Amino acid sequence: MAKKTKRDIVYFCNECGYESGKWLGQCPTCGSWNSFVEQKIEHIEYLDKNNIDELKEPLSLKDIESDNTYRLKTGISEFDHLIGGGIVKGSLTLLGGAPGIGKSTLVLQISKALSDKGYSVLYVSGEENLSQIKLRADRIGEFNQKIKFLDETELNKIIPYAIKTKPDLLIIDSIQTMTESGGIAGSITEIKNSAQILFRLAKDNHISVIMIGHITKDGNVAGPKILEHIVDTVLYFEDDQIKQYNLLRCYKNRFGSNKELAVFEMTDKGLKEVVNPSMIFLDEKSGDNSGCAITCCIDSNKPIFLEVQALVTKSSFSMPRRTINGSDFNRLNILIAIIEKRMNISLFEYDVYVNITGGLKIKDTSIDLAIIMAILSSYKNKNLPSDAVYCGEVGLSGELRNIPNVDIRIKEASRLGYKKIYLPNLSVRNLDKDLFNNNIEIVGKDNVVS
Ligand code: TYD
Ligand code: MG
Repeated sequence: MAKKTKRDIVYFCNECGYESGKWLGQCPTCGSWNSFVEQKIEHIEYLDKNNIDELKEPLSLKDIESDNTYRLKTGISEFDHLIGGGIVKGSLTLLGGAPGIGKSTLVLQISKALSDKGYSVLYVSGEENLSQIKLRADRIGEFNQKIKFLDETELNKIIPYAIKTKPDLLIIDSIQTMTESGGIAGSITEIKNSAQILFRLAKDNHISVIMIGHITKDGNVAGPKILEHIVDTVLYFEDDQIKQYNLLRCYKNRFGSNKELAVFEMTDKGLKEVVNPSMIFLDEKSGDNSGCAITCCIDSNKPIFLEVQALVTKSSFSMPRRTINGSDFNRLNILIAIIEKRMNISLFEYDVYVNITGGLKIKDTSIDLAIIMAILSSYKNKNLPSDAVYCGEVGLSGELRNIPNVDIRIKEASRLGYKKIYLPNLSVRNLDKDLFNNNIEIVGKDNVVS
């Protein structure tokens, strides 16, 4: 046996899970104040040679049986495709998302789909009581007897029941409401403990577990690093800033690709898959839409589609007004100077107002091109195509500079139904275009003037 030598203390940020050797007033990662809690850790000494006798014999690959090929197919094709063909038996999945986005609805629909196929499901809710769940279920449809509901928060009651009944799928809504034996629900230690217990339950009993996780104000699952390391799959549910779709994204997948995206739409009968989002562009061609340009920027590794709106009007001030909501004011002035100098368009008699929809603060400079296009579109009173996306950082001489993650942007634009994407030539020159389907035209540009 390994010998326990000494005990030590570490401190965790209760908001984001950052670990520190000493107590801190403010978390250096998420900026929260007074969020550090103490936790004891145990150090184990590994130098005892007798331990080797207890070790299992390591195996070569050909002797290892593959057991993750068995997947529970829900029949919700967008979801199945996203996670690589179905929920792997005995896997632990984290589903994160803002309140009200539709997490509970999605897991209820997944549960229904599986129970309709004869799989047994245990749906545990710590957030809502059974009659609230029933109200939601009534909107979705007829449920059969294979799915059971439980309102409970104590894992030491839930786990033995799950081991006894061995459901194919266990839903935990949400991990932040679960406690191990009357601890404080929602604290980092309790979240971590609960997730680890659920991980063992999933692996030892071949029960697939989906747990819902809330996200904090800055868009991370509370205790993100801790949870993301423990689980097999991380899915985030978020809304698309432009068309109000619900996007389900995969950030980590031990059993498939993590670059997929599923598109849903909330209706009065639950979530509906949107297999071909391009349909919605068709009825938006008419009307004055000048000053609107669509862009895709990357925010903490997530592609986000945004609409940049510009209004260029004759100024009645001696100093024309310039404002921008959602990005840097000085950058706007630079972009206006680039338009004036490189394109010979003088804007000194015009006020320029720019708004980035969705209320986000964007630092990614790849929105430069969209800002310039929106300003020009408003200045010339000419609509830009609503199915085109503009991405690129603009240098002082008007050249388009290289931007990262173009493959993610193209893939996602194509998936969301956009037909054309304008990118810096430098970024697309060496791109293997065969990787993308032919639904989207990739246009490389060297300069904003051309
Ligand atoms: P919910 O799934 O409870 O969100 P979450 O668990 O992420 O907090 O519900 C999301 C919203 O969707 C809620 O405001 C009600 C609405 N909704 C519909 O519009 N139609 C429906 O059929 C259902 C079930 C919910
Ligand atoms: Mg919910």
